[in-house]
Amino acid sequence: MPVHEIRHPLIRHKLGLMRRADISTKNFRELAQELGALLTYEATQDLPLEDEYIRGWCGEVQVERIAGKKITVVPILRAGIGMLDGVLSLIPSAKVSVVGLARNEATLEAERYLEKLVPGIEQRLALIVDPMLATGGSLIATIDLLKAAGCREIRALVLVAAPEGIAALGAAHPDVQVYAAAIDQRLNEQGYIIPGLGDAGDKIFGTR
Ligand code: URA
Repeated sequence: MPVHEIRHPLIRHKLGLMRRADISTKNFRELAQELGALLTYEATQDLPLEDEYIRGWCGEVQVERIAGKKITVVPILRAGIGMLDGVLSLIPSAKVSVVGLARNEATLEAERYLEKLVPGIEQRLALIVDPMLATGGSLIATIDLLKAAGCREIRALVLVAAPEGIAALGAAHPDVQVYAAAIDQRLNEQGYIIPGLGDAGDKIFGTR
């Protein structure tokens, strides 16, 4: 499973701002959306184009437009919502499929409580968004359900990935490409990424 750590200066700068302990909810939220847009730019670099002839200001002109599969963005609730508008700022016509997962505290497995996929999802490229790839449980469960729905082309956008989550995802779904703003050091005993961002959902929604 290829993981693309996007080492663009804008991404590194913005992620550095997000790591500050004293960051405000407003700034964290804005930066999560901006990074969502920048990762979308990278994750869509190879989308196929087709020629189109249009009437321009000086007559007919050949332009290009994106061809092939349409896109569905798949935010994993709740933290994935924090990157959604950034993705949609670059792909405004994308449809949104929402997946809600909660950790069962007894089994520690990710359990689905919401699955609202767009019709015809099997024809679409799915761009999953979730800020933190920690153990990989939520991402693997989401890919499981997208594949069960017939989705064949799936990519994931994350802000920070842990090596443990990358390994788990690679074992479960080696065909899925991940675009990460950073690959960090490790998980701690509570499952938080070190150095990471802390609880991304709490910081996006102001619930910390
Ligand atoms: N979820 C978070 O929000 N942060 C982590 O570090 C790990 C999982």
